[in-house]
Order: sequence, then C-alpha cells, then structure tokens
Amino acid sequence: MSNFNQIVELIADDLGAVEAKLTEHTASEYTFVDMAVQHVVEGGGKRLRPILVVLSAKVCGYEGSDAHTLAAVVELIHVASLVHDDVLDEAAIRRGRETLQTKWGNKVAVLVGDYLHARVLSMLVSRRADDPAMAILADTTQAMCEGEVIHAYKSGDFDISEAEYLKIISFKTGKLIAASCTLGAHLGNPSETQQIEALTTYGQQIGTAFQIVDDLLDFTEDSDKLGKDAFGDLREGKLTFPIIYARSVCNNDEKHKLEKVLHPDTDETEAIDFVKSLFRRYGVEPHCLKAAQSYADRAKAALEVLPETPARIALEQLADYVVSRES
Ligand code: FPP
Ligand code: MG
Repeated sequence: MSNFNQIVELIADDLGAVEAKLTEHTASEYTFVDMAVQHVVEGGGKRLRPILVVLSAKVCGYEGSDAHTLAAVVELIHVASLVHDDVLDEAAIRRGRETLQTKWGNKVAVLVGDYLHARVLSMLVSRRADDPAMAILADTTQAMCEGEVIHAYKSGDFDISEAEYLKIISFKTGKLIAASCTLGAHLGNPSETQQIEALTTYGQQIGTAFQIVDDLLDFTEDSDKLGKDAFGDLREGKLTFPIIYARSVCNNDEKHKLEKVLHPDTDETEAIDFVKSLFRRYGVEPHCLKAAQSYADRAKAALEVLPETPARIALEQLADYVVSRES
C-alpha cells in the first residue's frame, strides 16, 4: 500500500465524516441544482486539503468534529475554484468527469461555483462569531482570486520570470493549502503561534511543490491517469514552471520556436513533439522534480517544532507524496 493510501486509512473515519458534511451542507431541495452541485462535490479528487486540516488538527492535539466542518469548507472553496478555473481554461474533463460547462454550459458552471461559496459562507456564519477561520478564509479566497487575475493578465507574456510565476502559484494554489493547515492547527491551541506558523509554512511550501508537479504532469502523464486533459496548458499557450525553465536554458532558435508552438494556431502534434524534445534535451522533468522536492524538504523542516506523532509522520510523508504522485 502506498504512503498516501496508508494516510487515508489512518484517518478513514475522519474522512468519512468530512464526506458526510460535504453532502449535508451542499444538498439543495431543487433537483437540477442538487444534481449539478453533487456532480462536482462527489467528483473524486484526492481530498488533499481535508487531509491536511485533519492531520494539522491532530498534530496539535485536537480530535473533534470542528476539523470535519473546516475540512469540508476548504474542500468546497477548492471545488468552487476548480469549477471556475475550468471555465477560464475551457477544460473538458476534471477528476475523470465532464466539467460542468461541458455538460451544462458556462452559466451553470459559474453559478454552481457561486452556490458553493454561498454554502461556505453559511457554514462559517453558523460557527462562533469570533472564529479566526472567517478572516483566514476571506484572505485566502481573495489571494486565490488575485493569483488567478494576475495569471490571466500575464497569460500572453512570454517573458514572465520564474519569480513572478512562483508568486502567482503561491497565491492561486499555496494559499488554500496553507490555510488548510493553519485552520487545523488553530483547533489545537490558538495561542500556540509557533505550531500554527510552522504548519502554515509547511502548507505554503507543499502548495508550491504541488503546483510545480501539477504543471509537469500536464506534459508527462496521460489524460486517463490525470482525470483531466493532458497537454491542456500547452494547448492554451499557458506558460507554466516547466516551460519557463525550458525557455531560460534553451538556445535562441529554440526559444523562438517555443514561442511559436505556444500559439493556439500551431498544430498540436507539432507543439507536443517539439516541447517533448526540448524537455529531453534540457532535463526539464528532473529539474522540476528537484525544484518541487526542495519545497517539500523545506515543508518537512518546518514540522520539526511539532511533536513526533503519527500525524506528524503522515504530514512528512504527504510532502514527499506531493512530489512523487502520478496524478
Ligand atoms: C487550478 O490551476 C486552479 C487553481 C489552483 C485556483 C483557481 C482559483 C480561481 C479560479 C480564483 C477564484 C477562486 C475562488 C475561491 C472564488 P491550474 O489550471 O494550473 O490546474 P488544473 O490543471 O488542475 O486546472
Ligand atoms: Mg485549469
């Protein structure tokens, strides 16, 4: 059994409770609304963010059901962001299912994303008024939107720097993963700032590792395994971590060709063949994995201030899983 499956097994009861919360809090009495919402809420996925909330709470000594509610909240924010991201990216498949806009059109997809946010607000207001989760999640969703707006704005910029790109991914992906850990840690002891900061840093670092690997898998794995269309970023002409690296090390002729193949008019097979040859020539895959591993290692180092419990070991394993995963 893989480390990831062992972690899932370790907290299977908690994850079952999270699934129950997800269903309970997103149900609609209107049949079509319910069908469209459950299409994305049930739709597979690794439940990485709920796992992080539960493990972060456990490693800080908390075992109650608040962790399940907050885990469901972060998963719903994540699902809502993916529903909207798939509209922006015109993606056809997500988590092995048709995306909402493919099945029912952009209007339904945008509105289901909004519906999920409404459910998140409702779940949060039913908690304590002074709950720090409110401020954490408000800041997080704002940063996710800012990251996506900057990314969309920069999408035509072939010269985007690695530093600019890393900032974008720390917002669009890192913030919610970090918030999952912060929220879990808060449930333990809100005055343990060292533990909370350590888990926030851990989440931010694995978030960056996660997105670098996500960018790489787009070029190296097939659609069935990914549960979404492979080469989607290339098809859209999106500059992601592997392409930004390849561009920085290739020669001028290759750089011009790379810019050309990122244009949507280029024949897809030609674009894929060229990018693959560039990746082989410049060792792009090992470079990305090494970069991702360095973030995972920083994440693990941040955990050193925490007690050496099974939950901490699981978090350490999760950091490595984020890099070694194949989907
Ligand atoms: C997937 O990135 C998308 C994200 C990590 C964030 C999406 C955020 C928004 C759409 C902003 C709105 C957010 C909220 C909470 C309202 P990707 O396209 O690189 O990954 P993919 O290949 O899985 O699609
Ligand atoms: Mg996308």
